[in-house]
Amino acid sequence: MGTAKTIGLLTGGGDSPGINAALRAIVHRALTESAEVVGFYDGWRGLVEDEGRNLGPSDVSGILHVGGTMLGTSRTNPFRKVTEGEEVRWEPTDMVESIKETWHRRGLDSLIAIGGDDTLGVAHRLTRYGLSTLGIPQTIDNDIAGTDYSIGFHSALVTVTDALDKLHTTAHAHHRLLILEVMGRDSGWIALLGGLAGGADVLLVPENSFSVDSVEQKIKHRLQQGKRFSIVVIAEGAKPQELQGRQVSRGEVDAFGHVQLGGIGYWLADQLKQRETLEMTPRVTVLAYLQRGGVATPFDRLLATRFGVAAVEFASEGMTDVMTGLQGTQVVPVPLASALAGTPKPLDPELLRVARSIGLS
Ligand code: F6P
Repeated sequence: MGTAKTIGLLTGGGDSPGINAALRAIVHRALTESAEVVGFYDGWRGLVEDEGRNLGPSDVSGILHVGGTMLGTSRTNPFRKVTEGEEVRWEPTDMVESIKETWHRRGLDSLIAIGGDDTLGVAHRLTRYGLSTLGIPQTIDNDIAGTDYSIGFHSALVTVTDALDKLHTTAHAHHRLLILEVMGRDSGWIALLGGLAGGADVLLVPENSFSVDSVEQKIKHRLQQGKRFSIVVIAEGAKPQELQGRQVSRGEVDAFGHVQLGGIGYWLADQLKQRETLEMTPRVTVLAYLQRGGVATPFDRLLATRFGVAAVEFASEGMTDVMTGLQGTQVVPVPLASALAGTPKPLDPELLRVARSIGLS
């Protein structure tokens, strides 16, 4: 192992099962190269306030199957969003100076940031200040370009599929229209793959706006076939034509400028209730934070372990401003600039074709 002798580590943004598996792999891989790992608490806040501690094997013992992150996370953003017309740029706040002071006080050679596009975006911007950062893509949204999968997505799929299996029995018993609202922010990966795996009858994703009429037609068509129940999976960021493509949100905005999405399921139910022709009572289930909790699937544990090992090895080879990416079966370094430029990652057209080919919207 070459350059990185002291590696900083943090987990930022929305959590998922699988993060701890990556932390465990990083500590063990660094140990075999006698490098030190300093874990900072609560995402970028820990680096700003220099709150963290050295991590050794005992710190990461017994966490492989534990959801969440042993370091804690936050949505702290050391940069301020400035919008001028069409142009959006991020200007450093005084937190960037604090990060640089922590970096030098701790004698960091490199920093691994685990998170989604917000967390990785900060890692990328910090390289302009001479800090050597690397990323590991982690988000249930699976919207990071440059990697086939992000840590946490597969575990969220298990939650969505299990929920749909449970909803099928009660929808069938009551002859009901059940609407399941899933997360994913502006991306429909969870809705598309979860809906396919869980046998939804209608899939509504942010990438393709929808009309209530088209949903009603699909449900009516099923009724004409004698199917007296239907299940609709709708992504929280779906865009109804009746709202001119606007999303339904709770209004709160986070430090990265993201509005808190939620409520589209109830909006759709109200719209459908007004159309008595359906004869079925729409009921709504919002999975929300259940998709972020639970135990990591073997796929996510293996992905997280591979990403953790690769991140330490990339750091030791002197790489910076890259993230680990799974492409096919290989883990490769992906420049953060290109990964972020392609985010949110478009839905796989082949999976969309498969969904359409079996009658899902
Ligand atoms: O990015 C992961 C995610 O779960 C999104 O799917 C969701 O919209 C968002 O985080 C919720 O943010 P918070 O955890 O801050 O409420």
